[in-house]
Amino acid sequence: MKHETDVWKPELPINEQDPLIEQAARLLTEQQVVAFPTETVYGLGADATNETAVKRIFQAKGRPSDNPLIVHVATREQVRELVTTIPPVAEKLMDAFWPGPLTLVMESSGRAAEPVTAGLSTIGIRMPDHPLALALIKAADRPLAAPSANRSGRPSPTSAAHVAQDLTGRIAAILDGGATGVGVESTVLDCTTEIPVILRPGGIAKEDLEQVIPRVMVDPALAGAEDKPKSPGMKYTHYAPEAPLWLVEGSDTFFQATLRELTDARQRVGVIASEELAAKLEYEPMISCGSRTHLTEVASRLYSTLREFKKADVDIILCESFPEAGVGAAIMNRLTKAASQKVSEQ
Ligand code: TXA
Ligand code: MG
Repeated sequence: MKHETDVWKPELPINEQDPLIEQAARLLTEQQVVAFPTETVYGLGADATNETAVKRIFQAKGRPSDNPLIVHVATREQVRELVTTIPPVAEKLMDAFWPGPLTLVMESSGRAAEPVTAGLSTIGIRMPDHPLALALIKAADRPLAAPSANRSGRPSPTSAAHVAQDLTGRIAAILDGGATGVGVESTVLDCTTEIPVILRPGGIAKEDLEQVIPRVMVDPALAGAEDKPKSPGMKYTHYAPEAPLWLVEGSDTFFQATLRELTDARQRVGVIASEELAAKLEYEPMISCGSRTHLTEVASRLYSTLREFKKADVDIILCESFPEAGVGAAIMNRLTKAASQKVSEQ
């Protein structure tokens, strides 16, 4: 279906009775899809209980149908309807981290439309920590299935402009709530096993989860082991910028040498670097996405940085590696998936 794609910007602070939010909610009850901000990235929302609506998400994104969607809720009551039971460990995590960037995978009750779970017996649910997202879910009075609001394979959108770049003409409307804060998606945690398993690292770090529950495992597939990833989405090409991205692992001197080799070979190179490395390189074009010691800042700028370099201007994007502690695990997970190759020292 062809759409005009309206962009609506509700006034701040968000008022639940805002007519723009009510208008967007009405579209959702009419099985349309609407993009909205969350604290992580923009989501592409549709009524999670309606098959026609949910199928439109897959169409608009060009998303493979075997990749399940996260359902966004505003109340615990909505969670109870979507699952068979809430495991005690999930209850504890909701108390500690909701609303927030943590998706909990539980056994599905079958209440969600079939394409949401893509044939799995489980369902991923989260309560976003964003006043506009919560107001929209309440106004629509139904849970919203919402993947990131990018065309499949592209970096996730952290502003309404990014959503417009990818989806203008393909969706009914975009609610503009400004830039998102966290910048990387939610952590996806499987709570159906005795020890919960991180299927996708994200805004809540493993170290944070371990403050609340005694043991958390990481899906071995994330470390590059051969096992098939349990989170279906993890196997697809993702977050790809326009030009090929080379991820450099090693010292600053090694980065400098790699850059020189490429520029000597007349490659047009765009650099993504920490403030620390940027100060040493003094190179153009280069984007610094924050300090190595402030990884939350790097996370919040990561996707807009990946969208910045255009293929008309650069042949290769050379990007530094970041420490894997805390939200660094999510940053490196996304960069590794965005990269067409790794260049390692030694
Ligand atoms: O922060 C976020 O999570 C954003 C915002 C919009 O909420 N959403 C998001 O959705 O990142 P998406 O569709 O881009 O990624 C969802 C991930 C995929 O890797 C998918 O395979 C996984 O969650 N997932 C969803 N339901 C699942 C389930 N039942 N079991 C395992 N993995 C699941
Ligand atoms: Mg996504």
